[in-house]
Amino acid sequence: MQPETALREAATGIVAAARTGSRTGIPDDFLPDHWYVAALGHEISRTPVRRVILDQPVALYRIQDGGIAALYDRCPHRSYPLSRGEVRGDALVCGYHGFTFEPSGACVSVPGQANVPRAACVRSYPVVESGPFVWIWMGDPGKADASDIPDHRWACDPAWTTFTNSATVGCRYGMLIDNLLDLSHETYIHRATIGTPDVAQTPIATEVDGLTVKVSRQMRNAQCPPFYAKATGIDGTIDRSQDIAFSVPAFYVLSVRIAAAGDPGPGCNVKIMYAITPETKRSTHDFWALSRDFATDQDRVTQTMGQIQDAIVAEDVVALEALEADYPDGRVPEVSINVDRGALQARRLIHDLIRTQSA
Ligand SMILES: [Fe+2]
Repeated sequence: MQPETALREAATGIVAAARTGSRTGIPDDFLPDHWYVAALGHEISRTPVRRVILDQPVALYRIQDGGIAALYDRCPHRSYPLSRGEVRGDALVCGYHGFTFEPSGACVSVPGQANVPRAACVRSYPVVESGPFVWIWMGDPGKADASDIPDHRWACDPAWTTFTNSATVGCRYGMLIDNLLDLSHETYIHRATIGTPDVAQTPIATEVDGLTVKVSRQMRNAQCPPFYAKATGIDGTIDRSQDIAFSVPAFYVLSVRIAAAGDPGPGCNVKIMYAITPETKRSTHDFWALSRDFATDQDRVTQTMGQIQDAIVAEDVVALEALEADYPDGRVPEVSINVDRGALQARRLIHDLIRTQSA
């Protein structure tokens, strides 16, 4: 199929999606049988934390060996949030009437009587902590396999220096995926920090490999945006590559290489990882980790990059929340162009998963 024909069809499909919710519209149905990032490891302590994931409230806390327990955040007795209780040993004690739950979700004691009602248990969720991320499996626990966790090795590798942060965005998860897969928006939304005219002007190449969408953009002799000028100290024009690998539906890695224009060496490399975790149908947790292989011992570089990265995400939050507010039913009229190919491929894969799941 000629690209022009594909794009015409894509555009036609989008218009149809706006009316019917077909496979090219912005997805918002949940896919529970995947690993999602529930938190950054440093957020979880012996004081329980409540986090809503895929519309389910979850209480997360550390047990005595340093592991993490995740329980449905509602006591079966009177539905009080367990995250308002306290941790004793490995158990979570409800702060309302003292029902006590093990990390498995089994209730081990209730106040004033010896027998524990059989129904007084809560759901527990498989959790894996790896690198800075706390991964959770919200679907069928029998299908949870840690080897399916998307590749995030740079954030675990001491040879790379990593910093993390997170935000919650008031938009459906599909909008955040769209944003991350079409980086031409850097030229406009992030023109003060990371966008230069080269980004929007340079064509992309895309590829689908199983459940991974790859989007690549190679810029030669390009302007160096403030983010990378400050981080690398490179003066003058640069060669800049952006290679995205998005593992449907929830994990995105942008590999960036920055080098002085014409320099054939390894350059300065950054891996920008985003974990996209639906909170509700209309809000999304955005966890990120930035790993770099240069200036690895320089805290000043970490602080500068961290501040700019926070500002970049804040700019996206404003844009995405404006879009969500205008189209609360998610039926966003759209006309697609070449640069949307990666995002459209991701939508199709997600819609296929949603259809398979409902079947
Ligand atoms: Fe952005």
